[in-house]
Amino acid sequence: MRPKVIRKYDKKIVVPEGGVIDYGESLSKKISTPGLEHMVEKILISRGCLAKRIRALAKKIVHDYRRAEAIQAIVILKGATIFSADLIRAIYELNGPPIEIDFIRASSYKAEAESSGKVEILITLSDNIAGKDVLILEDIVDTGITLNNLKSYILRQKEVKSLRICSLLDKPSRRQQPIEIDYIGFEVPNYFVAGYGTDYAEHFRYLPFVITIKPSFLEDKL
Ligand code: PRP
Repeated sequence: MRPKVIRKYDKKIVVPEGGVIDYGESLSKKISTPGLEHMVEKILISRGCLAKRIRALAKKIVHDYRRAEAIQAIVILKGATIFSADLIRAIYELNGPPIEIDFIRASSYKAEAESSGKVEILITLSDNIAGKDVLILEDIVDTGITLNNLKSYILRQKEVKSLRICSLLDKPSRRQQPIEIDYIGFEVPNYFVAGYGTDYAEHFRYLPFVITIKPSFLEDKL
């Protein structure tokens, strides 16, 4: 299937099998991770598409938080770092409220393609989030296990003023636990994705676009 050219970024984008590109951008960009190129199937979401959708998400967040004194962002390590950095700066560019940034790290995937179903808190919050308008920033929601665990964990720590969730990617076909996501960048098909913060066995996080991994490398783990 050919990639789709997206022109409107102000609503959730359902990514087709062929991926999405912004007008005029070619998918022939080099994916250069020496020795690992053969694992990559294709670019699923181009950098132009990511940039435009992130600006649209930022616009919606700035509108929704127009009465907030500040936003307490909680970035979920490691996957959400790249997306969060771009989103937080887009919110600033659109004159949004100041943003305090904290981090939390949970891990369920380890170095495997399949979720273990268990979530470990590896790094916990350092800010006092009591009474704050909390915005959890995630890269991808797959089974929903990580976010459900983290949401309960965060709510157990302190009484927050509000809590919303923003995820760049959503893979609803894999959901095992329901979770309400307030802001979704792209709904993706059931591919193993990597790049733009997300990884395959710690590889590819640095790529500025989202790729898919060839199913032959996943050994029926999808
Ligand atoms: C990945 C991803 C999400 C989570 C989603 O994190 O970043 O946090 O899995 O999966 P789920 O909805 O099935 O729980 P991972 O545990 O791999 O850690 P990482 O962010 O450091 O890569």
